[in-house]
Amino acid sequence: MLETAPASALAAKYYLDPAIAELERTEIFSRSWQLVAHESDLPRAGARIVAPIAGREVLVVRAEDGSLKGHLNVCRHRGSRLVIDAQPDGKAIRCPYHGWTYKLDGSLVGAPEGRLIPCLDKPKLGLYPVRVESFLGFIFANLDEHATPLHEQVPGLAELAGRYLGPDLVPVGKDRIYHTAGETQKANWKVVVDNYLEGYHVPVAHPGLMRLLDYQRYSAEIHDSYVFFEAPMRPEPSGNRLERLYQWVTSPMPGLSEADSRVWRYAVIYPNTLIDLYPDHVLAWSVTPQGVAQSGLPGAFYTKPGASRRTKLAQHLNIKIGWITNDEDAELVARVQQGMSTPGWSPGPLSRREAAVGWFADRIRKDVGQ
Ligand code: FES
Ligand SMILES: [Fe+2]
Repeated sequence: MLETAPASALAAKYYLDPAIAELERTEIFSRSWQLVAHESDLPRAGARIVAPIAGREVLVVRAEDGSLKGHLNVCRHRGSRLVIDAQPDGKAIRCPYHGWTYKLDGSLVGAPEGRLIPCLDKPKLGLYPVRVESFLGFIFANLDEHATPLHEQVPGLAELAGRYLGPDLVPVGKDRIYHTAGETQKANWKVVVDNYLEGYHVPVAHPGLMRLLDYQRYSAEIHDSYVFFEAPMRPEPSGNRLERLYQWVTSPMPGLSEADSRVWRYAVIYPNTLIDLYPDHVLAWSVTPQGVAQSGLPGAFYTKPGASRRTKLAQHLNIKIGWITNDEDAELVARVQQGMSTPGWSPGPLSRREAAVGWFADRIRKDVGQ
């Protein structure tokens, strides 16, 4: 815990005002690294995914040489969306309107009846590029061509979380970060992030977590652009059958130690990437604004290849426990969104256990400049 008093929480307008949401679109979401996929979503050359970022669609493809390329998902001819859901892989990106065709690297190869287009200056008509970066196996995109590389923004995170992550992770179940319709919650995206950034609500709102985690030892390590949480597990058996079974079978994924199987960890990369690091699986997700009072939660579960049957059972049980917690949180954040819209409401002081909420508020105030 930090010794200084936590920063103050965000004023109500940040969660309610469409003008601030618009500033966030230009000052935060158009400039920050946004989680769009995992390497396993793009297994071979020609594979592609589309993710919404700050009012655009970003198309990420695996190029012939194995590298990742990002483009805006818009045709340079008359503006059609290029890739729509479930378009098959292929060596080219072909616009479904008039058939202009681009290489995976975005360069324009040709247009049907090109000789009838007098000003077809192909080198100038490549797809608009978008920066992409693979960090510990997860693919992020950034609309700001001058942004600092993500791995430079989060020094130390690879050491803290790297053994859980990587390009070799395999998805658990059907969810993929943007291939499948994700959860939505009825709250401003920052209410959802705030809620994730503190364990102060655990004793009151998450009876299951309270039985599993040693609340007194729940800790947050705050860095400039990320926060790393550690929540050691309690040694005593839970009174709940599902939780007790989980405690009994818990075992670490390949690459983790026995000590790792007694701690749950969480990483938050500013502004909106959240990674749950469990002994048996990883949940990588982000919180994206859908208007002022609703958020999308695209995310997916992963595990290390070669997990034992015991680890797989632990995974299954832990994911069940996670959904219970998720449903509790969904209710909490919806209630906050409703409550804070009360005219005249302003936030009270933060606990030291909410220091990361203060950190996040400071970052938002700085970026939005209000
Ligand atoms: S809009 Fe794409 S080819 Fe015409
Ligand atoms: Fe919670």
